[in-house]
Amino acid sequence: MKVLVTGGMGYIGSHTCVQMLQAGLEPIIVDNLCNSKLAVLDRIEALTKVRPIFYQGDVRDQAFLDKVFSEHDIQSVIHFAGLKAVGESVAKPLEYYDNNVNGSLVLARAMRTAGVKSIVFSSSATVYGDPTSVPITEDSPVGATTNPYGRSKYIVECCFSDFYDSQPDWSITLLRYFNPVGAHPSGSMGEDPQGTPNNLMPFIAQVAVGRRDKLSVFGDDYPTPDGTGVRDYIHVMDLADGHIAALNTVGQKSGLHIYNLGTGNGSSVIEMVNAFSEASGKEIAYEICPRRPGDIAECWASTSKAEQDLGWKASRSIMEMTADTWNWQSKNPQGY
Ligand code: NAD
Ligand code: UD1
Repeated sequence: MKVLVTGGMGYIGSHTCVQMLQAGLEPIIVDNLCNSKLAVLDRIEALTKVRPIFYQGDVRDQAFLDKVFSEHDIQSVIHFAGLKAVGESVAKPLEYYDNNVNGSLVLARAMRTAGVKSIVFSSSATVYGDPTSVPITEDSPVGATTNPYGRSKYIVECCFSDFYDSQPDWSITLLRYFNPVGAHPSGSMGEDPQGTPNNLMPFIAQVAVGRRDKLSVFGDDYPTPDGTGVRDYIHVMDLADGHIAALNTVGQKSGLHIYNLGTGNGSSVIEMVNAFSEASGKEIAYEICPRRPGDIAECWASTSKAEQDLGWKASRSIMEMTADTWNWQSKNPQGY
């Protein structure tokens, strides 16, 4: 099956392409390389012995997408392309809405023109805002987002939901990721943030490898067991497999399908620091700092809906997440 993968050169997209090729699916990648490097294609090829078809271009360019669709018999789309830095989205809201919302609308129009009716969209647990209870189920309230990035994801969910109402023969799958971390176990692919990392795991990895002095722990006075924030970290390889499970199950059935992709377990910042320290054999220097505005105390996923409908369950442990991140970071200290 040929699948158009937008943003396939990025962190989650690249791991998903490797798993797709290993599952006998054929990814056709579209990426404008605004947050990724061409070297990713070599790494995918080295791991799978297949060099996927790659188009450098922008999902907001419908003429470009029309051409890609016309050149291949594409059956489904996985839509990863977008901007994802929360802080940057506050400074550049127009760019975020244009890329994430407009990009998704242009893509949906190009799919309609091409007669391709199955899409899997990268949403985020951020659409739940500050949850009223955990674990978070898919029918928990959504929309109380705290920044333009989160709102852009929520708006795209609304657009796709309205679009589905008008086109009930489509299969539209919204996957709400919790906190993706980790790297390919080979150490040849991983997360390569540009500039200072915003997220916990890449920051810890850069402290361990000597690129940063110390981690700032944002708050130790949350109502959690050790006072630091608790999140549901999920290995990027499990997340990749979740996309394939979605494509093979609900991706073949019309409907508006919504799933959490998480592990169902919460870990604190300090637990992640200790796990990373154990996996890498490195001391991770840190200092306790004030809370980061917009952060919530804790969140983790209810995973039963995905288990039941997709037949998928995350299986990789925190030890594998930290060991694989360290393997990638130590072999590629400056990224790709
Ligand atoms: P990433 O930045 O590594 O990958 C995104 C890719 O999309 C990059 O290769 C970038 O060059 C490309 N891209 C961006 N705008 C584009 C455009 N207009 N046209 C074509 N290509 C474009 O990010 P990621 O971590 O792999 O995230 C993938 C998706 O998952 C994003 O939509 C993100 O919002 C969502 N998501 C990520 C996380 C996370 O923590 N990483 C959590 C929840 C949701
Ligand atoms: C962040 C985004 C969210 C996005 C998600 C995945 C915010 C407010 N939210 O979520 O929209 O979907 O990433 O990309 O940015 N931490 C530190 N020190 C650091 C970095 C993080 O202590 O240098 C703590 C945070 O306070 C939090 C935990 O580590 O408790 C995880 O943070 P992070 O990796 O940024 O993810 P989220 O905040 O869950």
